[in-house]
Amino acid sequence: MSTPLINAIENHLKKYMTSFHTPGHKGRMMGTRKLWGIMKDYGLGVDLTEVAGLDELAEPTGAIAEAEKLAARLFNSRDTAFLVNGASSGLIASILTCVKPGEKILVPRNIHRSVYSAMVLAGVEPVYIRPEVCSGWNMPLPIEGKTYIEAMDRENPKAIIVVNPTYDGLVGPDLGEAIKFARKQGIATIVDEAHGTFFPFSKKLPESGLELGADLIIHGMHKTFGSLTQTGLLHIGRKSKISFSGIKRALSLVQSTSPSYILMASIDGARSEFENGGREGLKDLIDKCEKTNHIIGTNKGFDTLYKEINSDENKHNSRVDPTKIAVKASDIGFNGFTLSRLFRENYGIESEMAQDQYCLLLAGIGTNDADLEIVLKACEKISKAKKQKLQKSSCDYIISLPELPPREYMPRESYYSNGEVVPLKRAEGRISKQLVCPYPPGVPILYPGERVTEDIIAYIERQLEYGATVQGLERDGNKSMGLEVIEN
Ligand SMILES: Cc1ncc(COP(=O)(O)O)c(C=O)c1O
Repeated sequence: MSTPLINAIENHLKKYMTSFHTPGHKGRMMGTRKLWGIMKDYGLGVDLTEVAGLDELAEPTGAIAEAEKLAARLFNSRDTAFLVNGASSGLIASILTCVKPGEKILVPRNIHRSVYSAMVLAGVEPVYIRPEVCSGWNMPLPIEGKTYIEAMDRENPKAIIVVNPTYDGLVGPDLGEAIKFARKQGIATIVDEAHGTFFPFSKKLPESGLELGADLIIHGMHKTFGSLTQTGLLHIGRKSKISFSGIKRALSLVQSTSPSYILMASIDGARSEFENGGREGLKDLIDKCEKTNHIIGTNKGFDTLYKEINSDENKHNSRVDPTKIAVKASDIGFNGFTLSRLFRENYGIESEMAQDQYCLLLAGIGTNDADLEIVLKACEKISKAKKQKLQKSSCDYIISLPELPPREYMPRESYYSNGEVVPLKRAEGRISKQLVCPYPPGVPILYPGERVTEDIIAYIERQLEYGATVQGLERDGNKSMGLEVIEN
């Protein structure tokens, strides 16, 4: 019997890796104890569908409605909808609800790709805000409240997307001011809080969009909270006038008509477990992650983003969630990729992601003391090992991000136009059909429909010269790079 995927999963599990990636339960029962209990009794019988007595997700009136109300009570939202197609489905449904075709939406340039999907589906006009890049880490910084306000004042969009926090756990200052400004102007606020499901429950974490008065707040619950992968919550803020039925209607456009009861039950179970002891667990986790960040940073050659952001020299005025442990050891010659490989191969630690300068370890409700201890020991040992020859660093290669290019077509028009691949060098003046994003720093420099400039080609060539991954380019043999552009 050939089952390549099942075999791959089994082989991975046999390695007994320490998980510092999503999901937040880390393979333990945190959040799913009660669900696991009935699965032990009934096995796959729990994999049910919308039969009598089990309600339906699109228009719930029974058990699902009740479970959603309990989630709304815990998160202090006006209404909450369960998501079974990830935070992505919540973001897409929010945009479909708040912005009509042809209307403007304000978004940070480095938003999650699901927001780009929504732009294509909804036919909206994005107005991008370009993030700054943190030089020492080559990491996009969060957008500040005042930048959102200036852009709203200038562009008068129908909605804005506030990212809270970034993938690396960063939150910009004064987001509350931006949300207040938006409310006064009648601009809808959608907060992508995919990585911030814990935010409403600790003063040590940045504030949640729920507390800041946003209209719609999306939680990728599976990332940290203990529910199963693909689950999330879409909350309507208490001050919002957006109707729950409108949100449910939009969600039914993008979610499955066969929602998994195992996934939905895991949301219900994780919510209930959090109410019964989870808050104390979270407090403990945050305290321990803070300590872990500090101790890692005391090793020679090591630094953590958390330590740097909380130092007196923090110039960026951002906050960072301590459960996102971004570790850097470039001073002793390890770039983020080497560090994550060492973590994996020598210490059995699987990280969430590696970038050129750092490696990101995500803690979640299932992370325990032993996991953090394994990371501490690994960093200590790596720090004491022989210093590596310094690897070339993207920081030496940083050139400032080019100006935003002129836009000729909207994302939806670009998606449906015909394309042709031309060598990158000859793409100047053509209109990109691709989203082109170099990693690091992970800020797209071309969105579909944007005109390719000389500066942009120079920037991409510089990134390639350094060895960065540039998503969205076509490889022509192994020699030159091509870009798919819209046919003339
Ligand atoms: C900032 C951000 N928003 C949204 C999403 C989408 O979440 P999901 O994978 O649950 O659809 C992600 C996924 O990584 C993300 O990083």
